[in-house]
Parts: sequence; C-alpha cells; structure tokens
Amino acid sequence: MLRSHTCGELTIANVNQSVTLCGWVYHTREMGGVTFVDLRDRYGITQLVFNSESDISLGDKAKMLGREYVIRIIGKVVERSNKNLKIPTGEIEIIASSLEVLNASITPPFTLDDETDGGDELRMKYRYLDLRRSVIKNNLLNRHKVAKAVREYLDGQGFADIETPFLIKSTPEGARDFVVPSRVNKGEFYALPQSPQTFKQLLMVSGFDRYYQIVRCFRDEDLRADRQPEFTQIDCEMAFVEQEDILQMFEGMVKHVFKKVRNMELGAFPRITYSDALKYYGNDKPDMRFDMLLHDVTDLVKGKGFKALDDAEYSGAIAVPGAAEYTRKQTDELTEFVKRPQIGAKGLIYIKYLKDGSFKSSVDKFYTELDLKKWAEATESKPGDLILLISGELFVARRALSELRLEMGSRLGLRNKDVYKPLWVLDFPLLERDKETGGWMACHHPFTSWKVEDERFFETAPGQIRANAYDFVLNGVELSSGSIRIHDRKKQEKMFKAIGLSKEEAEQKFSFILNAFEYGAPPHGGIAFGFDRFCSMIVSNQENIRDFIAFPKNNAGRDTMIDTPDGISDLQLKELGIRLEPE
Ligand code: AMO
Repeated sequence: MLRSHTCGELTIANVNQSVTLCGWVYHTREMGGVTFVDLRDRYGITQLVFNSESDISLGDKAKMLGREYVIRIIGKVVERSNKNLKIPTGEIEIIASSLEVLNASITPPFTLDDETDGGDELRMKYRYLDLRRSVIKNNLLNRHKVAKAVREYLDGQGFADIETPFLIKSTPEGARDFVVPSRVNKGEFYALPQSPQTFKQLLMVSGFDRYYQIVRCFRDEDLRADRQPEFTQIDCEMAFVEQEDILQMFEGMVKHVFKKVRNMELGAFPRITYSDALKYYGNDKPDMRFDMLLHDVTDLVKGKGFKALDDAEYSGAIAVPGAAEYTRKQTDELTEFVKRPQIGAKGLIYIKYLKDGSFKSSVDKFYTELDLKKWAEATESKPGDLILLISGELFVARRALSELRLEMGSRLGLRNKDVYKPLWVLDFPLLERDKETGGWMACHHPFTSWKVEDERFFETAPGQIRANAYDFVLNGVELSSGSIRIHDRKKQEKMFKAIGLSKEEAEQKFSFILNAFEYGAPPHGGIAFGFDRFCSMIVSNQENIRDFIAFPKNNAGRDTMIDTPDGISDLQLKELGIRLEPE
C-alpha cells in the first residue's frame, strides 16, 4: 500500500503517530509562512500543514500544488487548535515532513464542492470529476449499500440469482426496443431486453421456484427525470404463490432495506385499489404524506345555470387547509398552473371558506351562500380553507386535480422529506386503449392474469377486466410493478387475441412461452423494482435517478462523456449488411 491510513479515519486517538496519506488536493490556503491543504479521498478530508519556516523547500513545493493534484505525504498527527467538529477528522491535522506529487492535474472545469458551479452538461461531460463530489460519491456508495441489503434479504428468503440474456427477442413492456444487428445472421436483429419478464417466467417453469436478479433493462422511450434508456431493476419471480404472498415478501424487503440503509422502521403498508386511487387522489401513484382528497361534486354543482359545470362530465374539488386567505394574485397563479398544457385544465374555480363562516368565490354570480355551504360540506372543508374545483372530462379533470393537490401539498410543506408513506396499489385494469391505434393493449404486460370474476367482460367491456396486478408506491413515486401471471396456454392465447395479435403473430413472437406452458408450468407471479428509483428515494426522498447512476445518459439519450451514440465505419456497416439511406 502507498498509504498507512485513509483521509477519513485519523482522530485524536492517533495523535503523535507518523502516517502516510494519499489523495487529491481539495483546497489550499496560505497563512503567514504556512500552507494548509485539505487532502481528500473517498473516505474523507484531512488537513495537512506545510510549514515553510521549518522546511523551506517543502513549503515551496506545497505552494506549487494545484487543485486536484494527486499527492502522497508523510507526517505526524497533531491535535488542532481550531477544531472543526463537523467532520470526523476535524480535531487533528498532519504536520507534513515529506511531499511527493504522484500526478499533477489541470484545473477542473467546475468546482468539486457539493454546491458546484458546473451546469448539467459540463458535469456529464466530465462525469469522472463529478463523481469526486461527495454528494454524488455518497449516492453511489449508498446505491451499493441498497444492493447489498436487497441481496442479503432475498438470499435469506431462498431466492437464487440467475442471469438472463441481453441479446434476445422483443419483450413487450410498452416501450420501443433497442436492437442489435447480427453479423453472422445478416439482416437479422436481436432486441435488448426491456425486462427479463419472459425468461424469469421460464425459470419458474424450470422449477427454480424463487429467482431474482439486479439487472439492466433497456427501453427506447422518451426520457424524463425519472427515466433512463438503460436502467436497473430488482427483478423477482416466485412459483406457487398468490398475490398476498408477493405483497408480504416484498413489503419485508423494503422494510429490511430501509432498516439497513437508513436505520428507519417503516410503518404499515396500506393498500388501495386502482379505482379508489383515481377517485380520491386523481392518479395511480398517490403521495400519501398528506390527505387533501378529491371529492366528486359533479351532481351537486349542476343546475344553477353555470354552463361549464352543468355540461361537465366530472367536477371535483379539494379543500386546501388554512388557505382561505389566498390573495387574488395567488389564486390567479394557481389558475395559470392548472391551465398549463402539461396539465390541461380549462380553468379553476375557488371558494374561500372564511374564518367567520362566510364564503367568497369566483362563482358568486351563480351560487348562493347556501349552495357554497353544501360544497363545503361535501368537501369536508372547515372555516379557513380554500376549496379548489376543476371540471371537465373525467380523466383530464382528475389528472389536473391530482397535480394541483401535489402542488398545494408542496406549497403547504406537507411533502416532508423526512417522512415516508408506502402504499400498495391493487387491481389495475388488465387492458387499456392504445391512444394511437384505438385497439386494446395490456396495461401492465400481456403475461398478467385477470380476476376470474371479470372474465365475462372479455366480450363486452374489456376495459373493465381487473388484473391481478399491483404497484408499490412511495411518496408518489412508482417504485415497482408486478402481477400474478398467466400459466396456461389457452389463457395466454386469449390474452394475445385481446390485444389484437393474430394466432400467427402470437406463434411467431411467443411460441417459446406458449410451448413452455404445456410442459407443467406452475402458478407463479413476481415483481420488479426500479432499482435506480428505489435508491434515489431511500437516500434522498426525491426522484432524481441520474444522480444515482455512475454514468447516465442525458435528456437526449446521449452519453456526452464518451460521445455516443456515434456513427460506425463503412466496413462495419457492410459486415452487418446495413445500408444507410441518405437523409
Ligand atoms: P415495469 O415496466 O413496471 O414492470 O418496470 C418495473 C419498474 O422499473 C422502473 N422503470 C424505470 N426506471 C428508470 N427508467 C426507466 N425507463 C424505467 N422504466 C421502468 C419503475 C417500474 O416500476 N417485467 C415487469 C415487472 C413484473 O411484472 O415483474 C416490468 O418491467 O420503477
């Protein structure tokens, strides 16, 4: 070893010891004849002291050190006079007696502090420097801890870690495939897995009983802060189980990981159906840290001559506690907020339920005090609350109310970073309309089974069939999805038919799994957690997965550090049998 200790471990207990440290020059400052250097490595920061008065050449050498030089020093641990109790090594410093520059550094393009002056683009281009910043470094070290805790739990429950291939055929998870051309089979392509879904089911057919994998998945979809084209799942499958077994098993896993990584005990995991989630929260991943439920007032507000509400498919309202004093400017701001194209509401109606019990609203012309009192009752409002109402098409109005609820939750400080509220969302629909083709498509994926009692809807109302599918949601973030699977060829064929696959197409794409179901497939089910999201929520309680991935892609799907995607040579194209059409 080039060093005797790391930069994070020396304390008052080491005073008088001679030590050798290696690391990066973080900050330097000169005071009188003394140069102070903060030396940094993965483990922490230690203050070095170079005294020019006692050793001129050493002092001169120290003065030449630039930011991020890699050095090795020998010195003696002494107690500091002005202690820094914020860091573990803050009570000591090292009086250096020798300095060796292991490597120089040009000046980094941005500061490597927690609050860096580097913008996103620069940070991504020099990601290896960005990773030296302690926030990002700690995120990745915590990611490792989460992975370790997950493995510990699943190993303890008898799950076997089995790898599945990356060069496969399309697995339908709702995104586009990334494809890889085959040189030896010219004109043919592999698809990278959107998830190992079919393989993990085949492993159940093989009898492995409990499988898991912390595995990369690839999806060619539009990117957002919570999505990456390649991301990681904790992918799991179990045989001979019912939904309840899966919920219990993975509730246990989440609790175990929170205990290990954050030393936190998570409370109960309540459950809500998909349809109630939409009814009361306006979306299928409600943030349960606060109430402010949606109330359906569609019928209550009709019949008073206000056309917008009379004609509306749906009118819903939330009661915002203690916000009756909002000014005109503030309510205008909220109206603008819900009218933004991403939210899409036509407008916002407000009713101030004043502390003295009277009402002031934006619809006073149409509604009497008594009408508004009924609204207040229906929304369980109290004097001092602000009632906000949106009406329109059911889906759009609910979604807008959901966004408004979250916005008001944030404004009122109800989305506390220290609070975690887990939730299972159950009974998702099996099928939904494809917006582009108008046909039916699988809501989760086409290997999901349905509730026996809803089978009758296949012919009449496919949208009403409930699936044996569940999501785990934490503070409004969907961390995982899963389902009990179909394990019967006939049923699987029925599902493929429902999503518009002809017999031939189903055969061509999925004969392997249809065949496998004829060789004694056990009942089985599973779940997959978005590992990047899981880490980001556990560690920072917010969804910023890029800060938890060592080398992520930017919003355009590019890695600007290695500069990819990139062209390939004519020779490679020729070998692959690919001809590019000029644009
Ligand atoms: P699903 O498609 O819901 O289910 O994915 C499971 C979880 O993976 C995470 N996730 C993503 N994270 C980052 N970037 C992305 N582009 C991305 N897409 C998904 C989410 C999501 O909840 N095979 C099924 C699981 C199963 O049925 O067992 C599946 O992949 O957190």
